Amino acid sequence: MTEVLIEEAFRMRRFSYAPYSGFKVGAALLTSEDRIYTGCNIENSSFTPTVCAERTAFFKAISDGETKFKAIAIVGGPEDATELDYCPPCGVCRQVMTEFCDPDEFKIILAKSSLEYKTYSLRELMPLGFTNGNLK
Ligand code: THU
Repeated sequence: MTEVLIEEAFRMRRFSYAPYSGFKVGAALLTSEDRIYTGCNIENSSFTPTVCAERTAFFKAISDGETKFKAIAIVGGPEDATELDYCPPCGVCRQVMTEFCDPDEFKIILAKSSLEYKTYSLRELMPLGFTNGNLK
């Protein structure tokens, strides 16, 4: 499944709209029932409306009624790069993951290719995250 997710993230990266940064990102999110939702980053001339690939995938899934997630694969880098480096999710995307995912179960897969990747738990990338529990 990991390789399929990474390949889907690469496929989605082709749709990235990144004319300002030239940094193209693709993501593939796996639901608890093994459905895959994909996303790419979508930039804007006004900059702040820009959305990351990860949040595009999450918001597509959530607006489709999905609420439980197992993993996300992320691939990204400059569009002219011949080799990709690992692309870790930004802090805002980590916060969105924290809202919807179990920090010990949810896996974040950072890939350079379908064979070269690293897997982290959400807890590792977002220790001491602010959650709905803190509002009580
Ligand atoms: N970006 C993502 O889509 N995901 C990440 O994990 C890091 C950054 C996007 C936002 C922006 O369009 C471009 O990459 C450069 O920051």
